[in-house]
Amino acid sequence: MQINTRVIAIANQKGGVGKTTTVVNLAAALSKMRRTVLVIDLDPQANATTGLGLQPQEGVSLYPCLIGTQQIADMIQPTPYENLNVIPSEVNLSGSEIDLAQRPDRLQVVRNVLQAIRDANVFDYILLDCPPSLGILMTSTLAAADGILVPMQAEYYALEGLGVMQNLIERLKANGANPALELNGILMTMFDARTRLSADVVEEVRTHFGEKVFETMIPRNVRTSEAPSFGQPVVFYDPSCRGAEAYRAFAKEFARRNPTRATAAVPNAEPTAPAPEAEAVQEVANDQIA
Ligand SMILES: Nc1ncnc2c1ncn2[C@@H]1O[C@H](COP(=O)(O)OP(=O)(O)OP(=O)(O)O)[C@@H](O)[C@H]1O
Ligand SMILES: [Mg+2]
Repeated sequence: MQINTRVIAIANQKGGVGKTTTVVNLAAALSKMRRTVLVIDLDPQANATTGLGLQPQEGVSLYPCLIGTQQIADMIQPTPYENLNVIPSEVNLSGSEIDLAQRPDRLQVVRNVLQAIRDANVFDYILLDCPPSLGILMTSTLAAADGILVPMQAEYYALEGLGVMQNLIERLKANGANPALELNGILMTMFDARTRLSADVVEEVRTHFGEKVFETMIPRNVRTSEAPSFGQPVVFYDPSCRGAEAYRAFAKEFARRNPTRATAAVPNAEPTAPAPEAEAVQEVANDQIA
């Protein structure tokens, strides 16, 4: 069976629930497991970009691809980490709302832009870091994804945000924009084992969503919140802290649920074949997409 690049959007229109932290650390942990990963930062705040150690640069983002002035392969940047690449964000990305609004094909724009890297099939995973909004860019991004991963903070109003996401998934399926879209899973973040509220919320979410909820939960952890100011994923900044441990466990669970070529090559095991270096991957991507 041919297993292609999995495109997963990490989204929740609620702000500050751990979307970017999850993208950065899931990507880092997967890359350590020798999966080739591309992070695309779609948030003009550029937190995923800086969290992976890069500075935003004008003209280097998905934006020029959306307006058709650049090829996506030319926007892929290596990070300091093997197997981990990023298409950074820039402030111009916020202008894409206006550009896209006027286009009849707006819901298909992101899908069309991503098609070249999907076809090249050089990445195991493409992780899309979405902004905390429900704008056109976000909707077009969800229309381009195979699945949506929703990070959710274990707090009282968490379920409301999830309802909005589910509604959006159903609408994108029903109107034909993305008939195959699925809720890939729900990840509980910033879990605080000492509070009754955290435990109650998790129980309620599990009752409603059953197996869609990942077994792994990410604890609230100071090292995890410090790591971005050093421009590093916590799994590299402090590999032994509880946050790093949790994100590694989550990456394993995620990879099990989302098999790719790397998994298929070595059934039931971590792949042992050396994966290509980030730059080599980028070259291949450039060649194949050009
Ligand atoms: N497990 C954790 N423990 C402690 N702090 C965390 C944890 N996860 C995230 N944080 C912190 O919480 C804040 C929000 O996290 P993050 O930026 O990942 O959320 P977000 O959903 O991407 O936010 P936005 O909606 O603004 O894009 C950040 O300061 C981050 O460092
Ligand atoms: Mg974010």
